[in-house]
Amino acid sequence: MSKPTLTITDNRTGRTYEIPITNGTIRAMDLRQIRASSDDFGLMTYDPAFTNTASCQSSITFIDGERGVLDYRGYAIEELAEKSTYLETAYLILNGELPSRSDLLGWVHAIKHHTLLHENIKKLIDGFHHDAHPMGMLIAIVGALSTFYPDAKNIFDREVRREQIVRLIAKVPTIAAFCYRHSAGLPYAYPDNDLTYTGNFLNMFFKMTELKYSPNPVLERALEVLFILHADHEQNCSTSAMRSVGSSQVDPYAAVAAATAALYGPLHGGANEAVLRMLEQIGSVANVLSFIARVKQGEGRLMGFGHRIYKSYDPRAKIIKQMADRVFEVMGRNPLLDIALELERIALEDEYFVSRKLYPNVDFYSGLIYQSMRITVDMFPVMFAIPRTVGWLTQWEEMIEDDEQKIARPRQIYIGHARRPYVPLDER
Ligand code: CMC
Repeated sequence: MSKPTLTITDNRTGRTYEIPITNGTIRAMDLRQIRASSDDFGLMTYDPAFTNTASCQSSITFIDGERGVLDYRGYAIEELAEKSTYLETAYLILNGELPSRSDLLGWVHAIKHHTLLHENIKKLIDGFHHDAHPMGMLIAIVGALSTFYPDAKNIFDREVRREQIVRLIAKVPTIAAFCYRHSAGLPYAYPDNDLTYTGNFLNMFFKMTELKYSPNPVLERALEVLFILHADHEQNCSTSAMRSVGSSQVDPYAAVAAATAALYGPLHGGANEAVLRMLEQIGSVANVLSFIARVKQGEGRLMGFGHRIYKSYDPRAKIIKQMADRVFEVMGRNPLLDIALELERIALEDEYFVSRKLYPNVDFYSGLIYQSMRITVDMFPVMFAIPRTVGWLTQWEEMIEDDEQKIARPRQIYIGHARRPYVPLDER
């Protein structure tokens, strides 16, 4: 007879325990009762990098890594990428349902009316070197916002929380664009509320002397799709950082700064920049085979390949690859595309990559599109952070409202010295 429990026999003591299984999971705390002696702490689990440990229950994003499925709130990423806009998807992620027409109007209006930055932020940006990496700037400026909105620390007040969420979604693109303008030595271009979220981003990034900037509709739509694809991705490194830092009950600006820092690394959101640098380093299609051989010998990784969860394909990469052609039609074909296509062709046939289930991920082609759009390479991780802001904040709010969550505090297995006496300096 089938029973949703797990029976464990502890061979140290001969005792048997029956542990409930819910959603294919046992609770680690149910193992604590398993002790070898009365002064034993109880059994723990050891899971470096959390490869098999759920840290929360969530109803935001669903991923089936074996089948290449990604859904936000039950809606397929393919359908959202085709039919939705970024702000509509952000509303869906945050509120759990697609907005009515009037809800959407209200939401878009609220975001548009928080796009400006306090003028003092410009002084902060001016303090950075012209070649400061924009992710470093973004981390600092988002963290600094907490000092502009001290109310934000009232994280248990839903209204206050929602106000900061709107502010962050509205202001992160402005900060991002200002960071770029600073490094390019260009005057800051202020938000234009007549434009869409992505149209306005292009305006703040590219506007020169024209009185009114008109975004190219193909590029504007491409950016909408890229932003939809990056909006959330359940418990990845930066989202875990958001939840972990947020669990100390710090304000959301500090927590988003921490999540942005986690995203910066080349194994996460920094991968799109790393892909571009890798393609430039490879230089030509003729060098692809020797580059792959070096990767197989353990000399570096094929950036933009592999994923902790996706083991058949990354559905986001598929959509991006299809969309790339539309951008190339407008902006001209990116010469690095041939190298990327050849890398993909060889890797997908090579036993090393096939046996490890390594496929192109979201970052493999996104950088090529951003580069074709004339977005500078060091801005690529920032382009990831802008849309992910809603994912971080939604996951953070879900954590705050979850009665089971407390301050995040993993256990360790201590393998260092046992207690020993201090040795005076002249005896060492
Ligand atoms: N190139 C070459 N070998 C790889 C790669 C790669 N990109 N990714 C994994 N492997 C190998 C790895 O060396 C290991 O081989 P072995 O079993 O012989 O030691 C095996 O595949 C399993 O790798 P892992 O490091 O245990 O896998 P993971 O789940 O810890 O890492 C990953 C996932 C995304 C960090 C990794 O695949 C990687 O470093 N990829 C390149 C960076 C990248 O593109 N990151 C973006 C991820 S998608 C967007 C996002 O999350 O930001």
